[in-house]
Amino acid sequence: MPVCKKRIPQPVRRVFTCGMQIRPLTPHIGAVMTGIDACRPLTAAEVQAVEAGMDEHAVLVLPSQDLTDEQQLAFTRNFGPLEEGANSTVRTGELRLAPTFADVSNLDKSGAKLARDNKRRMAALGNRLWHSDASFRAVPARYSLLSGRIVTTDAGNTEFADMRAAYDALDAATRAEVEELVCEHSLIHSRQRLGFTEFLPDERVSMKPVLQRLVRTHPVTGRKSLYLSAHIGAIVGWPRPEAMAFIRDLMEHATQAAFVYVHRWTKHDLVIWDNRTTMHRVRRFDDLNIVRDMRRTTTRSDGPTVAQPAA
Ligand code: OGA
Ligand code: MN
Repeated sequence: MPVCKKRIPQPVRRVFTCGMQIRPLTPHIGAVMTGIDACRPLTAAEVQAVEAGMDEHAVLVLPSQDLTDEQQLAFTRNFGPLEEGANSTVRTGELRLAPTFADVSNLDKSGAKLARDNKRRMAALGNRLWHSDASFRAVPARYSLLSGRIVTTDAGNTEFADMRAAYDALDAATRAEVEELVCEHSLIHSRQRLGFTEFLPDERVSMKPVLQRLVRTHPVTGRKSLYLSAHIGAIVGWPRPEAMAFIRDLMEHATQAAFVYVHRWTKHDLVIWDNRTTMHRVRRFDDLNIVRDMRRTTTRSDGPTVAQPAA
């Protein structure tokens, strides 16, 4: 099985000509980017610097970004077309935010905390499983941008795992085995994993599994990464229990501490991650009593990872 025998690159602080600075947070994944104001329109050089930082570090933390929803949307559009309908995957009543946002808060439209048995709360508990956003869509997500409007401090951290480092650390036999594999991803799989099965008949149709390659190649860096997610429910051509046991092994390998950055939130952090090369999860917190208002915008990637019938 996979072994970790990787050279660890030395983190280097970088300064861009446009005045932005990058300070790595771990040897593999995550960096803080300062000298950028996400509330204002960006120059082309600034957009390029963010993308270069993302290509290298896969997760960027931009502190002190006191964004309105409009500013967050405008900033997000620099990095590709918005993933619309991020809020409409499990229908849960009236939306608190525009449908261009994924509302990952624990609040309803009136600002009250979601009740324990609230359907949106239960569907959102899937975010506690390691996943990549929208891997259940044929054209999955590129970047996710999560704005911490009201944050939790002791719990409710968000963790990020570097799927490039995870791929690099596979032994040769496992690398050869995963190279051509294709997985089925669906929201139904990740929610069923927690015992959530309240899908309406038409939701089951719209959540029909999509196909994703298990190994992706980054279009700019050429680095390979494992494309894992809690949404996986099958490997094409494999008996299901064998597939799921293998996926569990790969998940365990990919989320070992050496490949993980743990983000502890400060109010007005804007955290950007590349869903093509990372997984993430939120950790448990006292969501029945403490308010956590987090708003995510998401961009789409260029195309499907494997040819398949259009949804
Ligand atoms: C997300 C998500 C994590 C969090 O926004 O995609 O998984 O920390 N959220 O709320
Ligand atoms: Mn997510």
